[in-house]
Amino acid sequence: MSKKLNLAVFISGSGSNLQSIIDACEAKDYPAKVKLVVSNNPEAYGLVRAKNANIPSVIINHKSFKTRHDFESAITKELTKQPIDLICLAGFMRILTADFISQWPDQIINTHPSLLPKFGGEGMFGDNVHKAVIAAGETQSGASIHYVIPEVDKGRLIAQISVPVLENDTYETLGERVRAEEHELYVNAIKKIAVERT
Ligand code: GRF
Repeated sequence: MSKKLNLAVFISGSGSNLQSIIDACEAKDYPAKVKLVVSNNPEAYGLVRAKNANIPSVIINHKSFKTRHDFESAITKELTKQPIDLICLAGFMRILTADFISQWPDQIINTHPSLLPKFGGEGMFGDNVHKAVIAAGETQSGASIHYVIPEVDKGRLIAQISVPVLENDTYETLGERVRAEEHELYVNAIKKIAVERT
């Protein structure tokens, strides 16, 4: 196998997707490596996961900056300290500006817990998505991995998986079922990109 893809994973919370990526990267033949974890939230549990795995992490708290531009410049500064090939948003709760995104063409991907284009866009995040899916009476939900463009959740799809919505589902039970599949989907999507590019 040739060179591994260098990942920066952006998180804001629990970091269960980060964990599955870290776990996958432990396999010798997995074609990627997490070089840096970026969190805007100093309390994110994902930071503990990074520490446990000896992965460098940086807290860039958006609340410490006057403008989004300043916040993103601080992120860029960290990213340029080493070669990064792909930015993986994994529960990152900030919307990135077009300016930032244009600096990383086809190099930012995101996971979203629905079958995009359904239940995507601003305001559709976390539990809100699963609540909306149940309220709409959908029988299928799922997860999507997509490229990030300035229009939220509208970038081209890389991978998608369906998950059934069961009759007695709550947003919590549906969320758990989706998350389990999402973890595997994300790891496979990164692998697919790495194989194509390295
Ligand atoms: C995931 O379900 C992801 O799709 C959404 O936020 C959740 C993050 O979970 N954007 P975690 O922090 O990876 O556990």
